[in-house]
Amino acid sequence: MGSPSVSTHRGHVHWQGLLLVVSLLNFWSQPTTAQVTVESIEAVEGTNVTLHIHHNAQNAASFMWYRGETAGFHNNIAYLSVSSGRHVRGPPNGQGIVEDDGSLLLQNVTMNDSGIYTILILQEGCQQMISCGWLDVYPLVSMPTLLASNTRVTENKDAVVLTCHTSADFIQWLFNGTNLRYTNRMKLSLDRRNLTIDPVQRWDAGNYQCKASNRMNSAESAYVGLDVIFE
Ligand SMILES: *[C@@H]1O[C@H](CO)[C@@H](O)[C@H](O)[C@H]1NC(C)=O
Ligand SMILES: *[C@@H]1O[C@H](CO)[C@@H](O)[C@H](O)[C@H]1NC(C)=O
Ligand SMILES: *[C@@H]1O[C@H](CO)[C@@H](O)[C@H](O)[C@H]1NC(C)=O
Ligand SMILES: *[C@@H]1O[C@H](CO)[C@@H](O)[C@H](O)[C@H]1NC(C)=O
Ligand SMILES: *[C@@H]1O[C@H](CO)[C@@H](O)[C@H](O)[C@H]1NC(C)=O
Repeated sequence: MGSPSVSTHRGHVHWQGLLLVVSLLNFWSQPTTAQVTVESIEAVEGTNVTLHIHHNAQNAASFMWYRGETAGFHNNIAYLSVSSGRHVRGPPNGQGIVEDDGSLLLQNVTMNDSGIYTILILQEGCQQMISCGWLDVYPLVSMPTLLASNTRVTENKDAVVLTCHTSADFIQWLFNGTNLRYTNRMKLSLDRRNLTIDPVQRWDAGNYQCKASNRMNSAESAYVGLDVIFE
């Protein structure tokens, strides 16, 4: 019996050749080293945050978490040691808690908790895995204060300036509960905090609000009602 072969559009290829290619592909797609990754996240201040990890450690003995990019004694914020099914956590009064799966729980985060976190997994047999990820904490946006230069104005005579007081990055203007449609009688200051309507017309009468936001959350001001007197 001759050697079996397979037909392709290029002709005949021996089985042995194909098997070699398949086994090389298998070899290349195998993870060759132990790996851990950290999921980076964004959060709002005052919330509890978990930095999740993914790893392929077969026999993790300790999960060590560090503040910053290095794994040093002084920046260790939390650890979990697992030996014969017993979980030991520390250090006492540490800034975080290591969950059973090695993830890091940080409670009631502040802006100061923003930054890089490093994890070191020690496996039985001295193998180590290390990786890092980051946390970005955004301020909780508080309710902006909206003030008007005047709330009772005469059509085609008066102007009104609405000022939104907030420390947030982004400002949006709302009229009667939906996005304000700007007309050529309206002018926004460069920082969007001042909305000038000059002159006012009867269609401008209604309830104004400003909405302050950052990447993670937002808050709306109370309504300011504008009355327009017209003939
Ligand atoms: C954060 O965790 C602490 C302790 O478990 C809990 O008391 C608190 O309510 C949590 N805060 C939030 C915003 O979930
Ligand atoms: C969360 O942290 C802030 C600022 O550090 C503090 O004022 C507040 O009491 C803390 N809240 C809780 C539930 O621990
Ligand atoms: C953040 O760090 C600064 C400077 O170290 C400190 O003055 C401030 O009180 C800290 N804020 C919070 C909420 O921990
Ligand atoms: C916004 O309006 C207030 C009150 O009219 C004024 O004092 C302030 O200078 C204005 N700011 C800008 C950026 O136009
Ligand atoms: C806005 O709301 C006011 C008060 O409810 C109402 O009188 C006015 O017609 C509304 N304007 C528009 C354009 O919807």
